Amino acid sequence: MTQFVVDDLTAQLEQFRGNNYAVLQALQTTQEMIGFVPDSALDVVAKVCNVSRAEVYGVFTFYSDFKNTAPAKCIVKVCVAEACQANGSRELVDELHNQGFDVHTAKQNGNVQMEQTFCLGNCALGPAALINGQPIARATAKKLIEKANEVAR
Ligand code: FES
Repeated sequence: MTQFVVDDLTAQLEQFRGNNYAVLQALQTTQEMIGFVPDSALDVVAKVCNVSRAEVYGVFTFYSDFKNTAPAKCIVKVCVAEACQANGSRELVDELHNQGFDVHTAKQNGNVQMEQTFCLGNCALGPAALINGQPIARATAKKLIEKANEVAR
């Protein structure tokens, strides 16, 4: 991060100064501001919240929604929790894998990144998915790939 970004981020996080319970909020604010949480931002959060870098890193790595690289233009999250498995999410993940989207490693394919998640609260309409936060019910590989490519354009 440039010094300008560090200064801007520090100013944005000023509301959390000295609050060691605000690490999660500070990380969320960082990701909203930059789009991801660069490694050097962990130091800024630690300093502002007056906690160790290790504590910040622990929170950062606990939540899979935090990213340390710039995100893809389109992020697809496929639910692989029990109810969705009963409705075919395992087969969906396999089909997506066969189409070149690795849901397990969340490896980017062009401007699309697919990743697994656990329960989106849409269990009755599984397999459930999200495309950039928009819920998709009864997801199929065809439906997800078409919508993802549309969003990623
Ligand atoms: S188990 Fe998939 S949305 Fe709940």
